[in-house]
Amino acid sequence: MFDLIVKGGTLPDGRVTDIGIRDGMITAIETLDAEAGEVIDATGDLVAPPFVDPHFHLDATLSYGLPRINASGTLLEGIGLWGELKKVVTQEEMVTRALEYCDWAASLGLLAIRSHVDTCDDTLKGVEAMLEVREQVKDYIDLQLVAFPQDGLYRDPTAHANTIRALDMGLDVVGGIPHFERSMADGAASVRELCQIAADRGLMVDLHCDESDDPHSRHIETLAQEAHRHGLAGRVAGSHLSSMHSMDNYYVSKLLPLIAEAGVAAIPNPLINIMLQGRHDTFPKRRGLTRVKEMQAHGITVGWGQDCVRDPWYSLGTGDMLDVAFMGLHVAQMSSPDEMRRCFDMVTTQNARIMGLEGYGLQVGARASLVVLDAGDPIEALRLRAARLCVISKGRVISRAPRMDAALTITGRPETVRRRHKLD
Ligand code: FE2
Repeated sequence: MFDLIVKGGTLPDGRVTDIGIRDGMITAIETLDAEAGEVIDATGDLVAPPFVDPHFHLDATLSYGLPRINASGTLLEGIGLWGELKKVVTQEEMVTRALEYCDWAASLGLLAIRSHVDTCDDTLKGVEAMLEVREQVKDYIDLQLVAFPQDGLYRDPTAHANTIRALDMGLDVVGGIPHFERSMADGAASVRELCQIAADRGLMVDLHCDESDDPHSRHIETLAQEAHRHGLAGRVAGSHLSSMHSMDNYYVSKLLPLIAEAGVAAIPNPLINIMLQGRHDTFPKRRGLTRVKEMQAHGITVGWGQDCVRDPWYSLGTGDMLDVAFMGLHVAQMSSPDEMRRCFDMVTTQNARIMGLEGYGLQVGARASLVVLDAGDPIEALRLRAARLCVISKGRVISRAPRMDAALTITGRPETVRRRHKLD
């Protein structure tokens, strides 16, 4: 007897099978002829583990236009704009917007989010707000919170003390922004100190790192060195790493093996970096996305992050990790079938690995969290940004959506248009 059976779905690896769920866990993956509280027919549909976003800003989300828009479209104006907004935004407003975003996310099968939380505010109202949100959504979204000194660990006079306070209050991960410190030297020093804090406390590290077009922004090198020195392999991520796009090729040929050796993961954020980077270029205009395929070829774990939805840095965004992977696929030119499938893995299993999620995946003994998509396989899911027909979190159905078929009325055409397409 099962609580739920998901019947006849196609897994990302191509297997067609049933999934039996009991007490919030996956207890069988095989053809099942058994009783269940509910049977969900997934015949012909893709059944995937939930989407995971390893880089987001939940404290700033859905604040687009407040108090004004980002006229230059740059990272630096966005930071300044957020600095204006965070003085006047209330804790309640942050909670309300974050919960609204979490509803969007859950309905799209995004069930784990790592959010950076600005600690450069003496009231720490954003930290209080996000801790409240983490508690409110814990039954259906795993929220991992990063203590993030947005205005610089050293550049902001109280950032250091407030970041320590935020970690003491229960944030999960140590963050930073070395390229925003006053000097390269301060940036490198901040990386060393943040890794020391993480090592002392047994925490993970995720730094906004080298988010610029400056080929000499090389804080990733210090991050890899410190991760190696403290033995933090598998627990450190560099977010963005945009400057690597512009670095000298010889330097990168030495850098990538060092990142791999240190076990540091990379989190590029393609929607945001294609928008923010290259703003000082005329033509040719750089893409600003880090070297994704090249890092993967060195065995470095790379995930796609979303970063922003409707906030001072980005005016669009939906909470859909398929949008994120779709953009990443284009900007990184990951066009072969294997590369496209890898892009799907990046927003599911690779991101889960970066966040260190326990019980993640489609296997017996894993937590029963999964998504049924209106697609035949991961590539079709990307192409269509397919409807999430059913989202199950920890054994419960939390969202359902219709297929995106259309009724066509032109004479001589089929009455129903299905966007899914099979060659055979
Ligand atoms: Fe970010």
